[in-house]
Amino acid sequence: MDCSVLVILILQVCAVLCDENEYRLVRDLFVAYDKRVRPAVHWSQSVNTTYGVALAQIIDVDEKNQIITTNCWLNQNWLDPKLRWEPHKYGNITVIGVPFTDVWRPDVVLYNNADSTSTLTSVSSNVIIKYDGNVTWLSMSIFRSSCTIDVKYFPYDVQNCTMRFASWSFGIDQLNILSHSDEGDISNYVPSSEWALVQYRPRRQLEKFSCCPDLVPFMKYDIVIKRRPLFYLFNMVMPCVLITLVALLGFYMPPESGEKVSMGITTLLSIVVFLMIVSESLPPTSDVVPLIGLYYGVTIAIVSSATAMTVLTVNIYHKGTRGIEVPVTVKRLFFGLVARILCIKLDLPSPPYSGLTRIPSHDHCVYERSSDTDMGTQNGGLHARFPASVVPPDGGPRTCSTDAHEQQLVRVLRKVYQTIERNEIRISEQDRRDVIRQEWQQLALVIDRLMLIIFIFATVTVTLVVMVPQEYDKD
Ligand SMILES: *[C@@H]1O[C@H](CO)[C@@H](O)[C@H](O)[C@H]1NC(C)=O
Ligand SMILES: *[C@@H]1O[C@H](CO)[C@@H](O)[C@H](O)[C@H]1NC(C)=O
Ligand SMILES: *[C@@H]1O[C@H](CO)[C@@H](O)[C@H](O)[C@H]1NC(C)=O
Ligand SMILES: *[C@@H]1O[C@H](CO)[C@@H](O)[C@H](O)[C@H]1NC(C)=O
Repeated sequence: MDCSVLVILILQVCAVLCDENEYRLVRDLFVAYDKRVRPAVHWSQSVNTTYGVALAQIIDVDEKNQIITTNCWLNQNWLDPKLRWEPHKYGNITVIGVPFTDVWRPDVVLYNNADSTSTLTSVSSNVIIKYDGNVTWLSMSIFRSSCTIDVKYFPYDVQNCTMRFASWSFGIDQLNILSHSDEGDISNYVPSSEWALVQYRPRRQLEKFSCCPDLVPFMKYDIVIKRRPLFYLFNMVMPCVLITLVALLGFYMPPESGEKVSMGITTLLSIVVFLMIVSESLPPTSDVVPLIGLYYGVTIAIVSSATAMTVLTVNIYHKGTRGIEVPVTVKRLFFGLVARILCIKLDLPSPPYSGLTRIPSHDHCVYERSSDTDMGTQNGGLHARFPASVVPPDGGPRTCSTDAHEQQLVRVLRKVYQTIERNEIRISEQDRRDVIRQEWQQLALVIDRLMLIIFIFATVTVTLVVMVPQEYDKD
C-alpha cells in the first residue's frame, strides 16, 4: 500500500517538474524533418559551414611511416532552416541538444587520412540547436594523417604537417566551408615532451579535382613542430662521442699490450650498433642523409682511420727489429719538430758509434782503447811488455821475434784478442740494433701522440659542427 502511494506521489511530482515543452518541441521539429536533405534555403544556394579544429595533443609522430597522430576537437557550425522554432511557444526554450545522428551533417573528412579505423576513435554525442536554426556540432577525434616528414636535420628538424579537411561529396556550390577563426585554437593544447609546437594556423583554399568541375573549399591546418633534441643528444650522440674518444685513447695505449687494434675494432662495432638503432627510427629515405646519420658516418670514418693508423704505428714500433735505421729526415721532423711542439720528452739513446764499434777499422786506436777499458790489468801488462806493433790485430806472425816461446805466447794472445774482438763486435752490433729499435719505438710514440691529438681535434670539431644546436633553415 505504502509503495503504491509513493509511486503515485512520484508521478505527480514528475508531472509538475518535467517540462512537456521540450518533448513537444523535439516532436514538432522532427515530425517533418529528413536528415538526408541538405538544409539549404533554396536548392541552388550553398550551405555555409564554419569549421574549426582545436589542437588538443600531438600524440605521436611516426617518422618511419610518415604519419602524425593528433587529438583534435572539432567545432562545426551551420544553419538549418528546418530546425527553427519560436521560443515563446515552447516555454522560452532557446537551445536543445539532440543526438548528432538525427540531423543532417556536413560530410567533412580528413583528406590525408592514414588510418582506416578513424571513425572508431571519434567521440561525439549531441548537436546543439538554437531556436534560429544555428546548429553546432562539437566532436573529438584522433586523427592519423599522412605527413611528409623531412629528417634531414634530425634531431634538429622542424616538421610542417598539414591536415586537409573538405567535404567528400559537395562542391563549393552545395557546401561552403569557412574558417571558424583566423587563429588556430590551441587553448586546450597539452604540450608534448618530444615536440615543441611552433605554429598552428588554419587557412582556406579552393581546390579542383580531376573528377568534377566544382571547386572544393579546403580547410587546412598547418602544424609546425620542432623536435626537442635532448633525448637524442643524450642517448645517441653522447655515447657516440664518448665511445669515439675511448677509441682514440688506443693511440695512448702501449703497443706491447697487443690490444691497440682490437680496441678500435670493438669500438667500431659498438658505433655500428648505435647507428642501427638510429636508422631504425628514421624513414628509409635515399633523398637526404639525416644529420645524425652523417655524424655517425663521419665518426665511423674517424674510428676506422684511427684503427688503420694504429696498425701503422704498431708496424713502426716493430720496424726496428729488422735493423733498418730511421731515415734522417723522418728523425729530424718527428724528433726535432713534432716532439718539441707536442712537448714529448723523448727517451732517445745516446749514439753508440764511439769506442768499441770502431775496432775493426782502426787497429791502433782500438787496441789501446780496449786495453784501457775491459781488459784492464791484463792488457796493461801486455802493453808494457809488447809494443803495439808486436801484436798486430789482424794476425799473421811477423819477423818481430824469433823466440818460439814468445811466438807461442803471441799466438795465444792473438786468439784471445780475436775472441774478445768478436765478442765486442757482437755486442756493439747488438747495441746498434738496440738503439735502432729504440728509435723506431720512440718514433711510433711520437706518431701515436700526434695522431691522438689530431683525431681528438677532428672528433671534437665534427661533433661541434654537426651536433651543436643551431637554426637550420628549412628548404
Ligand atoms: C555564405 O557565406 C557567404 C560569404 O561568407 C555569403 O555571401 C552567403 O550569403 C552565405 N550563404 C548563406 C546561405 O548564408
Ligand atoms: C517567457 O519570456 C517572456 C518574456 O521574456 C515572459 O513574459 C514569459 O513569462 C516567459 N514564459 C515562461 C513560461 O517562462
Ligand atoms: C551560430 O552561433 C554561434 C555562437 O553561438 C555563432 O558564432 C555563429 O556565427 C552562429 N552561426 C550562424 C550561421 O549564425
Ligand atoms: C607549411 O606548409 C604549407 C604548405 O606546404 C605552407 O603554406 C606553410 O607556409 C608552411 N609553414 C611553415 C611555417 O613553413
